[in-house]
Amino acid sequence: MALKQLLITSLVLCYLIQYVACFCNVTCTTDYMTSLNCSCSGTVPSSPILLEAECRDFDGQVNDSCEITPSQSWCIIQPEDFYMYISSDTTCTARVKHTGKEDKMKTDDSTDWKLYQLVKPQHPVNVQVTENIDSYNITWQMDENTYLDKLFMYRVRIRTKHYLKDPVYYPVREDRRYQVLNNLTLQPGTDYVANVQASVNPVSNYQGPWSEWSSTVEWRTTEGDDKFWWQWPVLLTIVPCLILCCLCYLFKILWPKRLHLMNYSPSPEDFFKPLYHTYGGDFKKWVGPVFIFSELDPLGEKNTYTDDD
Ligand SMILES: *[C@@H]1O[C@H](CO)[C@@H](O)[C@H](O)[C@H]1NC(C)=O
Ligand SMILES: *[C@@H]1O[C@H](CO)[C@@H](O)[C@H](O)[C@H]1NC(C)=O
Ligand SMILES: *[C@@H]1O[C@H](CO)[C@@H](O)[C@H](O)[C@H]1NC(C)=O
Ligand SMILES: *[C@@H]1O[C@H](CO)[C@@H](O)[C@H](O)[C@H]1NC(C)=O
Ligand SMILES: *[C@@H]1O[C@H](CO)[C@@H](O)[C@H](O)[C@H]1NC(C)=O
Repeated sequence: MALKQLLITSLVLCYLIQYVACFCNVTCTTDYMTSLNCSCSGTVPSSPILLEAECRDFDGQVNDSCEITPSQSWCIIQPEDFYMYISSDTTCTARVKHTGKEDKMKTDDSTDWKLYQLVKPQHPVNVQVTENIDSYNITWQMDENTYLDKLFMYRVRIRTKHYLKDPVYYPVREDRRYQVLNNLTLQPGTDYVANVQASVNPVSNYQGPWSEWSSTVEWRTTEGDDKFWWQWPVLLTIVPCLILCCLCYLFKILWPKRLHLMNYSPSPEDFFKPLYHTYGGDFKKWVGPVFIFSELDPLGEKNTYTDDD
């Protein structure tokens, strides 16, 4: 019953103070050098929110504030001489204040955390690619940070330029600021895009999320083996030639036979068996009786009569 009452009271209070402030969950990351990046997760603020942060170690404390506007869910706090208060003991507190109609009403909403537990490094800079005989060397740099020297690790992301394929990630689990890519792992003659992000190495006791991605570097891999790219034109020329040659050859073999067939006139022997058998091929003898018959032909007679006339 008491719990229910408390819940109702707090809800009403929230509503009165202003909805946003109560459900805004403040988290701040640090580059562990100059600044805090504080954001307010939860509902999108309908009016500006003032964020105040304070960090202290055994030497003293710094505080500063920034404003989250409805258009941006985070803001940067850069306390003066922040780096002087950075140590493994530094503890911070962030509070939300409302700059609404109720002037700077303070809420109970505050977050405490150890500074070294939310380190989000600046993104790597100056990403470059150099080409070797059989590999590509991707190199980058980090802004100078005396506290985190040699305590970073990285992640290299390789994509084809038009993002047609899933990106490939190369983890670099030590503070080594280059990654060598063998040319065999990449497609020849393709546009690639690479960028890098950094994080504190967990073995160093520091914790925190990955940095933002660095700016990208683009390059084009060399065309592969010579054989590879002139294969197609060559195939396209040679194959039809070969086919043509084969056709020519076949034609050459078959054409005379065909001619022979076309010119073939059968021997008359088969048709005139009696001529050859009986008369030894003497056509006159064989045709003889027929000839006589033709002399008795009425037409022939007619002709003789006309001759006599
Ligand atoms: C606020 O943030 C902390 C740390 O990220 C998380 O554990 C907690 O659940 C969050 N609360 C709300 C209400 O989002
Ligand atoms: C601050 O953090 C937010 C995410 O929490 C990120 O989107 C934004 O880019 C950061 N701003 C800077 C200047 O690093
Ligand atoms: C911020 O720091 C100044 C001096 O360091 C101090 O006077 C002031 O009270 C602090 N403000 C808050 C809200 O802690
Ligand atoms: C990779 O480099 C070697 C050495 O120059 C070369 O012989 C090979 O063709 C290259 N492979 C590709 C796919 O570019
Ligand atoms: C890649 O570049 C880094 C930094 O310049 C260099 O130390 C490393 O030897 C290079 N590696 C190769 C294989 O070229």
